[in-house]
Amino acid sequence: MVIDVKTSSATGKIDIGEDVIARRLPYLLQGQKNFVLTDTNVYALHRPFFEKWMQGEELFVLPAGEEHKNFQSLQAILERMAAAGLKRTSRLFAVGGGVVGDIGGLCAALYMRGIDCVQIPTTLLAMVDSSVGGKTAIDVAGVKNIVGAFHQPIEVLIDPMFLGTLPEREWKCGIGEVVKYAAMDRHTFDALAAVDGNITKDLAVGLIENSVRYKAGVVERDEKETGERKCLNVGHTTGHAIELTYGLSHGESVLWGMKIETLLAIEAGVCNPAHGARLLQFVDKALALDGGEKPDFSNLGAAAGKASLDKKNTGDGNVVMSVAKDYGEWTLFTLPLPQYVQALTELAKKL
Ligand SMILES: NC(=O)c1ccc[n+]([C@@H]2O[C@H](COP(=O)([O-])OP(=O)(O)OC[C@H]3O[C@@H](n4cnc5c(N)ncnc54)[C@H](O)[C@@H]3O)[C@@H](O)[C@H]2O)c1
Ligand SMILES: [Zn+2]
Repeated sequence: MVIDVKTSSATGKIDIGEDVIARRLPYLLQGQKNFVLTDTNVYALHRPFFEKWMQGEELFVLPAGEEHKNFQSLQAILERMAAAGLKRTSRLFAVGGGVVGDIGGLCAALYMRGIDCVQIPTTLLAMVDSSVGGKTAIDVAGVKNIVGAFHQPIEVLIDPMFLGTLPEREWKCGIGEVVKYAAMDRHTFDALAAVDGNITKDLAVGLIENSVRYKAGVVERDEKETGERKCLNVGHTTGHAIELTYGLSHGESVLWGMKIETLLAIEAGVCNPAHGARLLQFVDKALALDGGEKPDFSNLGAAAGKASLDKKNTGDGNVVMSVAKDYGEWTLFTLPLPQYVQALTELAKKL
């Protein structure tokens, strides 16, 4: 399946299926020297892929982990690109999860003021979310994604073959973002509702196609997040606060954020209780994956209140959340900080 993405700044496409590598990669590599970025885990698990398809290209293997999405890595990658003599026509291929995609995309945006980037996502999270939409970034001074650029990939090649080596914890993270789309998009909701038991590769492809089609549409209409793209932050206000406070991964934090914000929105009469209940079922099923561990949320109210205001910089003492209203509908939901802290303190006892 091919989905076109046309924004005011660029035109790209997303190609999903088990034949995308053979069909598109040789064509995209040919004619120039290219740069391939991956991480240590992906390289170790998928070495035959690199040997078969990327032989002769400049390869950079980043140590795995969010802590390497930083200035030092950015500098090392850019220096290697320059030393390898990459030209303006060269392409950067980011083969990995969201970390490789985010920092790789930023290097492509910066090198010679911008070269083509091809995203080859290897985690479910990167397939359904981070590889699409052109947001690139690194973390600086302890703040996530604070330095970055919009740089649309010319192509995103999504091959479900990579999911074969994904640990359960990473499935859980990816499902966190899929539930986010299900909160707003009927097609993703229905695809998720059809999952009964284990997610097979075919079901995963269905979830990816629906999520990506929805995200691509939103990005086309609002690339720079001045309005509609804010809907992609469902669960993320509280999720980011949880990520910062408890050090959970992004996708897991989003799941907790969705749970909390959906409960708040139902309580406030903003979210239809029946729709909210279905979303909570999805969230709870995903949270039960990988041992279903729950952090100690005893200081959740104060901690989340502080972190969510820091991150959003609203400046007016309000916490703004994107929440589901009903099947296929979302809205912005604002709570004054003291009320948000109080509500989370109460909720933490019941999570
Ligand atoms: N740009 C965006 O729009 C956007 C959207 C959502 C998230 N993000 C960013 O994405 C990042 C999270 O992405 P992520 O969850 O993919 O993290 P990640 O890139 O750290 O990958 C998670 C782990 O899975 C490993 N891995 C990758 N592919 C694998 C495979 N096929 N088999 C086995 N292991 C594999 C990685 O080495 C890593 O240890 C965060 O930095 C977040 O800020 C960006
Ligand atoms: Zn996210």
